[in-house]
Amino acid sequence: LQAQAAQAFESATTADAVEVARIEYLGQKQGRLKAAQERLKTLEPAVKRAYGQRFNGVKQALEIAFDAARSRVERRTTAAGGIDVTLPGVAPRLGHRHPLTQTADELIDIFGRFGFAVARGPEVEDVRHNFDALNIPPVHPARDPLDNFYLSEGTMLRSQTSTIQIRVMESQPPPVRVIAMGRVYRPDTVDATHSFMFHQVEGLMVDKGVTMADLKTVLRLFARSYLGEDVQIRFRPSFFPFTEPSVEVDMLWHGGDRWVEMGGAGMVDPNVFKAVGYEPEQVTGFAFGLGIERLCMRRHGIDDIRLLYQNDVRFLDQF
Ligand code: PHE
Repeated sequence: LQAQAAQAFESATTADAVEVARIEYLGQKQGRLKAAQERLKTLEPAVKRAYGQRFNGVKQALEIAFDAARSRVERRTTAAGGIDVTLPGVAPRLGHRHPLTQTADELIDIFGRFGFAVARGPEVEDVRHNFDALNIPPVHPARDPLDNFYLSEGTMLRSQTSTIQIRVMESQPPPVRVIAMGRVYRPDTVDATHSFMFHQVEGLMVDKGVTMADLKTVLRLFARSYLGEDVQIRFRPSFFPFTEPSVEVDMLWHGGDRWVEMGGAGMVDPNVFKAVGYEPEQVTGFAFGLGIERLCMRRHGIDDIRLLYQNDVRFLDQF
């Protein structure tokens, strides 16, 4: 009896199986131990004593086996948090890169294929890199304190990534073919297409014989690569102190009913070459600066720039 009971309790793997074994061996009404106890009552006093001792030993062993089996199956359930481990699991939620980071990585990839290396520069800049070397004189309205975040001692949060054009040309001779991207800061009123902080991708190519046709080709190729073959872009004459001639580049917005500015561009002004010690007679170059948020919005059909900064996972999950 003891060996059979031990075997039954040991092989029980669920609470139900343990209960079945308990009823069979330890059950108060029909249990096999109970039956042995009934038999004990009918024995002669001479054998009763020895049988009784044996009975008590078996009873104890069965109770121990039962307790062990019960705590074994209980531990199994609580280890799984009291949950039925045979149910399908809940998949963990995976994070991913922010849509702006994805856009930046794609821009690096596309311009990389055009032969552009990546350059970097600081977000806290001096006015020389943000203005002076870019042919923006001290009296220019673009330097207005109401249009910039000035810090102290001639430093500011950069208002454009064109600062990096200067840093690159100061640190290497021509030819140059780089892009640079990062945050820029302007005290603009926030609306669906403006923010006080946004990201730009700057491009600069300097070599012998670089022309406006090269600029337009690179921007068109880029727009098609990132926004699709059917995207429409247009160039409008414009003005920037650091390029001459200058253009603004628009893209036909998703929906097709309006043009939205993608950025500015132009041929590097000779005064900029002079400021960095390049020979304006020897080289020409083009530069452009595009808004990364707007590119990302046009690509994914996003209508409000603020969605890109709120970090609502219901929005971010879609990219
Ligand atoms: N820096 C300009 C801006 O922020 C864009 C630009 C870049 C224009 C390079 C011409 C050349 O609007």
